Amino acid sequence: MGTLYKMGFTPESLLDLSGRVYIVTGGNAGLGFETAKALSLKNAKVYIGARSAPKAETAISTIQSCLPANSTASLHHLPLDHMDLSTVAAGVQAFLTQETVLHGLILNAGIMCTPYELSANGHEAHWQTNYLAHFLLTELLMPILQATALRDDVPIGSVRIVELTSAAYMWASGAGIAFEAIDLPHGKPFDRYVQSKLANILHVRELQARIGPKGDTPQRGEIWIAAIHPGLNDTGLAASYGASSLFGRTIIKLGFAAKPEKGAYGAILAAASNAFPRSWSGCYIVPPEKKSTLYRQANDHNLQEKLWAWTEDELKRLGFLR
Ligand SMILES: NC(=O)c1ccc[n+]([C@@H]2O[C@H](COP(=O)([O-])OP(=O)(O)OC[C@H]3O[C@@H](n4cnc5c(N)ncnc54)[C@H](OP(=O)(O)O)[C@@H]3O)[C@@H](O)[C@H]2O)c1
Repeated sequence: MGTLYKMGFTPESLLDLSGRVYIVTGGNAGLGFETAKALSLKNAKVYIGARSAPKAETAISTIQSCLPANSTASLHHLPLDHMDLSTVAAGVQAFLTQETVLHGLILNAGIMCTPYELSANGHEAHWQTNYLAHFLLTELLMPILQATALRDDVPIGSVRIVELTSAAYMWASGAGIAFEAIDLPHGKPFDRYVQSKLANILHVRELQARIGPKGDTPQRGEIWIAAIHPGLNDTGLAASYGASSLFGRTIIKLGFAAKPEKGAYGAILAAASNAFPRSWSGCYIVPPEKKSTLYRQANDHNLQEKLWAWTEDELKRLGFLR
């Protein structure tokens, strides 16, 4: 476990990813952009999940301008607006008409400390953008992920789901998830961010229980999963946190925020590196790319099952899952 820490992971160490297909939500900016870029530099086919076509196209041309002349990478926009779940369903349909394999799903898009707002589906913006839309995307893509992991020509452990969370999950109050008022209308923006980031971890823990590696012997069909805290990085998200809090503003001004290309290392390692050990599946990874302990509600097995059941019921009620 300490080996990677000592060696120091860098995306340059990734093997060639020709023939592999990835989706990165929020791939047009910040950590998602850096993740999409690193995968493309190794010849992957990358779908950038983004709500804005112009932003996706700018990100794609910026990455393309960094690729060597002999690159076989390709980049595509996957239209997804997490504030409207019908776009998630439509985005998956569009993807499935294009592709028969999916090697990595990087659940990265996020907002932090934005004002209270309801989505097209009646949920608060943090809850839906950071968690609910990612849960739906994962469920709708699960058949293609599982089919890819079962293929004889795909090495075991190549199919991964990576979910961006935050160490802020530790600030979750009470039971962690307020099932009786899940949109936290009376909470502060930070409380809503924290709850959504705890939900990201609980999602990873339950995915691990359902589809992650079991026992010591690698099995065809298993999917490796990770929850990533990227540290504090100088991105649009950090800026919105800074705008909302004196503490945030101060730590960013003091230069504690890392460059996004570095902040994306954990997600890149977990998504596509052979240096990511099978035993780390289901774990919480923090900079500098090491496994870390989860505390409090993030270890509550009953809570992870309860949240999964709540989410499935809610997405069925909304008509997006059967
Ligand atoms: N930066 C940090 O210090 C930090 C710390 C801990 C955790 N994280 C986590 O890292 C992840 C990435 O954050 P970041 O720092 O890279 O943030 P960022 O630079 O603000 O990028 C966020 C991405 O999410 C997208 N997004 C937001 N709302 C969306 C929606 N409704 N539909 C589709 N896409 C949407 C944004 O698209 P637009 O450009 O269209 O807005 C953008 O591409 C987040 O999950 C965050 O919680 C970041």
